[in-house]
Amino acid sequence: MVERVEIFDTTLRDGEQSPGASMNVNEKIQMALQLERLGVDIIEAGFPIASEQEFEGVQKVAAAVKKPRVAGLARANRADIERAAKAIEKAERPVLHTFIATSDIHLEHKLRMTREQVLEKAAEAVRLAKTLVGRVEFSAEDSTRSDPKYLAHVVKAAIDAGADVINLPDTVGYTTPIEIEEMFRNVIATVPGSDKVVFSCHNHNDLGLAVANALAALRGGARQIECCVNGIGERAGNTSLEEVVMAMKTRQNVYPFETGIVTEEITNTSRLLGNLTGLTISYNKPIVGRNAFAHEAGIHQHGVIASRITYEIMTPESVGRSSNDLILGKHSGKHGLAKRCADLGFTLDENEVTELYQRFSVLADKKKEIFEDDLRVLLATMRNESFETYSLEQLRTSGSDPAMALVKLKRGGEEFFDTAIGDGPVDAACQAIERVVGVSGRLQEFNIRAASPGKDALGEAHVTVLLDGKSYYGTGASTDIIEAAVKAYLSAVNKYLALQLTA
Ligand code: KIV
Ligand code: ZN
Repeated sequence: MVERVEIFDTTLRDGEQSPGASMNVNEKIQMALQLERLGVDIIEAGFPIASEQEFEGVQKVAAAVKKPRVAGLARANRADIERAAKAIEKAERPVLHTFIATSDIHLEHKLRMTREQVLEKAAEAVRLAKTLVGRVEFSAEDSTRSDPKYLAHVVKAAIDAGADVINLPDTVGYTTPIEIEEMFRNVIATVPGSDKVVFSCHNHNDLGLAVANALAALRGGARQIECCVNGIGERAGNTSLEEVVMAMKTRQNVYPFETGIVTEEITNTSRLLGNLTGLTISYNKPIVGRNAFAHEAGIHQHGVIASRITYEIMTPESVGRSSNDLILGKHSGKHGLAKRCADLGFTLDENEVTELYQRFSVLADKKKEIFEDDLRVLLATMRNESFETYSLEQLRTSGSDPAMALVKLKRGGEEFFDTAIGDGPVDAACQAIERVVGVSGRLQEFNIRAASPGKDALGEAHVTVLLDGKSYYGTGASTDIIEAAVKAYLSAVNKYLALQLTA
């Protein structure tokens, strides 16, 4: 019999905690809406006590999505739990996720508490959470390095206190498939009441075993998988959503489970996350990497032409990658564009279609062929820019060493000009922006890549800028790479300014 496994997506919480992955509130909402289209069962939207911005992010995601449950994270204490409960109160189906560590290593060095104290605190936290929110998940942090007998006691206490979901995380990515299967099987077999709760796994990828461990946890009795798009997350990341889902789908004979994931939305979701965070994935990343379905060797190409099953275990279409993704040209109309966006899973309102069409026409004048990835980049930058404080109206650069730049920026109805000299045109333009805005940043990372094939490709720039001691990510796109870089810099500055306004 095929059993249902719930997909608990923590891209916006554990994923977002990883360096360089931070998203502002609007970006979190965009991502959450895409996760809803992807069909995840639960969206963990953040850790509300962490900051005002984090609280607002969780609150807005809770109000924005309708189908998935929305979870907020809380340590096992009253302040965290009350704050998380408040942040998710507008969710159709809220989940309060509370946790405390159970390994002696954490008890001794981090919590400085005895086993009895932790046991009591876990039960108290679940009892309190249960009075505030209908569904409560309890996580025994560092389960895989905890004494199995003690872990079973804590799980029993959490179930007795009313927990609906028990999560046994491999917090430090230490366990192996054989061990994790056994851990779940033992806890489920020995703790009374296990049949009344859902068991969940949450694995980190420090040894590259997160996906394998999640699949093994299913064999041990887990029926919920916590994971992140593109496998982002603390250190080496979390279980990769797309890998674990496609493993189950492709190997039904070994893992007879089904999920609610619309696998055709995987590519869109992966690309959107990349566009929002700038965290690029390696070309050979399974499922979503650029080369994941590319057949280079002649013998493989020959085989695939004869019959795809020779070298393909799943089709690119099944994960939303079309083999021919050339989409539109200069003469395509607005309706064709809207239809193509809908096929790619983007729902646009009338104004967005009009705005996108204008951008598309400008690009089509510069570039003969427009590909799916060009369209995704156009859409992502358009949605990003709709939240911006300053927009780039004009950019002129001359010379190279030193270079001179003139920028015209707009904020509301007002226009601002300035010029600056720098080491190269990008440096000069960024300095001119700083003079207008009145901030001073340091470029930490700067990457530029082509969004699609061809010499006239749309250039996508990704930057990280250090402003007031914190890193801000920005992205920009143009067929002119200097302009793409300057737009990316301005988008990072805009993020910084938006944070100052909400702080
Ligand atoms: O890795 C971990 O243990 C966690 C918990 C908060 C679930 O992220
Ligand atoms: Zn984690």
